[in-house]
Amino acid sequence: MTAAAVLRAGRDDDADGFIDLIGACWAEYPGNILDVDGEVPELRALASYFAGKGGALWAVEQAGRVVGMVGTRPLADGEWELCKMYAAPSLRGGGTGQLLINSAEAFARAHGGTRMVLWTDTRFDRAHRFYEKQSYVRAGPLRVLNDLSKSIEFIYAKPLRGVVIERLDAAAAVSAVPRLAEILRACVDDGASVSFLPPLAPETARGFWKRSTSAVAQGGKVLLVAWADGVLAGTVMLDLAMPPNQPHRADVQKLLVHPAARRRGIARLLMERLEAEARREGRTLVVLDTKEGDGAETLYRAMGWQEAGRVPDFAQNGDGTMCATIFFWKRM
Ligand SMILES: CC(C)(COP(=O)(O)OP(=O)(O)OC[C@H]1O[C@@H](n2cnc3c(N)ncnc32)[C@H](O)[C@@H]1OP(=O)(O)O)[C@@H](O)C(=O)NCCC(=O)NCCS
Repeated sequence: MTAAAVLRAGRDDDADGFIDLIGACWAEYPGNILDVDGEVPELRALASYFAGKGGALWAVEQAGRVVGMVGTRPLADGEWELCKMYAAPSLRGGGTGQLLINSAEAFARAHGGTRMVLWTDTRFDRAHRFYEKQSYVRAGPLRVLNDLSKSIEFIYAKPLRGVVIERLDAAAAVSAVPRLAEILRACVDDGASVSFLPPLAPETARGFWKRSTSAVAQGGKVLLVAWADGVLAGTVMLDLAMPPNQPHRADVQKLLVHPAARRRGIARLLMERLEAEARREGRTLVVLDTKEGDGAETLYRAMGWQEAGRVPDFAQNGDGTMCATIFFWKRM
């Protein structure tokens, strides 16, 4: 029987365990050299190091061995950094990483943190998938370290509290694809009329967002996302690719809020920001369509969108019946 893994505060005397764990994780990727005394001397007394910076450190222990760790520390203006996040290969996929990251995020929130950032080597692709699952998105240029491992790092970030809307650039959009695909699939399975029929295959959903991020990269689309208390929960796009005789126009696409985050005002905030972005892009007339009778219809009317008309039997529902679609427009 495998011994239970226990999360606890990290201690200075975990040093050997932390060094072994980091060494094992780095060894999974070629070219990493762990020079503790030359480059990361804080590992010799890591709990004191984080406490001295106003942060905290956690360890996961199993059968007397350190098998997981994470630290966090405040930077400035409510920004915190997630540091030294490692889980032994034997524990991966079992929720340990999630437990560790939740502890660090909860600590930062409890101490006034509004945003979490983290740096991760460009080689650590499995870690990137993990951070993307935790709703982090790429948030800036690469950092090049002059260390023995020749590290080049991505920065990831996310807001920690409340509902926050951001416009994603191409790099952030690419990193958001897995989570956006989850949101799209959840909405389609829940009966949303957004071009797809249930059940929506994961690769189809990711393919849709991959194409959309390509349009974002080329300036053809604006992609907005919403976090609710640190979880990517909603999105909407503004399609700017209009015919030559309609340079003043744009279309709204894929307003989606995860079913678990509905009726908290997220869609309203997304649409308010979308209107601001349309104005910023010089678009004075925006058009959208929605299934007759959906919650979205109520939202658009409440936000002053004008009905242009409705088309019966416009789209198919998941159960094979047909539904009408209403077209709306609004001057920005
Ligand atoms: C439509 C959708 C985006 C709304 O997201 P949401 O974050 O829950 O919406 P909000 O909380 O911002 O709601 C704002 C207002 O819209 C209206 N509204 C939203 N959902 C509604 C519903 N199911 N029934 C009636 N009114 C609704 C209400 O007036 C609401 O204000 P209130 O909560 O104060 O009464 C979400 O239900 C969704 O993703 N649906 C599936 C995808 C879809 O249909 N998208 C529209 C494509 S055009």
